[in-house]
Amino acid sequence: MILQSIVSVVALSVTLLQGSMNAAMPDKNIEGTLFLVNRTHMISENYIPEVRKTDVYGMSQSMRNDAATALEEMFTAAKADGVGLSTVSGYRSYAKQGTIYSRKVKTNGQETADMLSAVPGASEHQLGMAMDVSQRTSSRLNGNFAKTKAGQWVAANAYRFGFIVRYQEGKEAITGYAYEPWHIRYVGREFAKEVFDSGEPLDTYVSAHRLDTYQYLLQITNEVYP
Ligand code: DAL
Ligand code: ZN
Repeated sequence: MILQSIVSVVALSVTLLQGSMNAAMPDKNIEGTLFLVNRTHMISENYIPEVRKTDVYGMSQSMRNDAATALEEMFTAAKADGVGLSTVSGYRSYAKQGTIYSRKVKTNGQETADMLSAVPGASEHQLGMAMDVSQRTSSRLNGNFAKTKAGQWVAANAYRFGFIVRYQEGKEAITGYAYEPWHIRYVGREFAKEVFDSGEPLDTYVSAHRLDTYQYLLQITNEVYP
């Protein structure tokens, strides 16, 4: 019976995966909007997403098309609210992340560097779904951003466009990184509000979502194969 359930879950999973990858399992495939990258879920140095330049104020930076479009909508809405945002760092290759991480180690020592920068293969920037943003008047990335009008606007509104502030204050033990009010991660509008409302880091949300998906699959396979 248990074996039959497992076989059925696998069969149904395959069917769902063949259908809509993102709708069925947004956390399971690297193109999925909930795909988790952290120190324990690393990506290959060979992974290079399809990205395009974002058409917004700031440094010339790229993201995946869905994330770039959402970012453009977010910048337009911010401007309408009198808030000027600027892009600082979007897609970064594995090699580029390696350069940034090594520089941080040299400047700050390994322990501090590990709180500030991901080792290559562990950065969401390599997914093309993260952007570091600043206020227009300064491209500096530090905790002060949270106190600015721009930082407060991002914290309160990013979810409306499908973004979450990924490394929250007070969640350092879970995320493994210091508070980064400037680093926003695209998860899509369908999930951003729920993650935002949960107050939990993406790492925690995805673990819960995985369990939900499994229970859902088990429930419908039990209905199909009672
Ligand atoms: N600063 C974040 C953790 C990164 O390097 O991806
Ligand atoms: Zn970042």
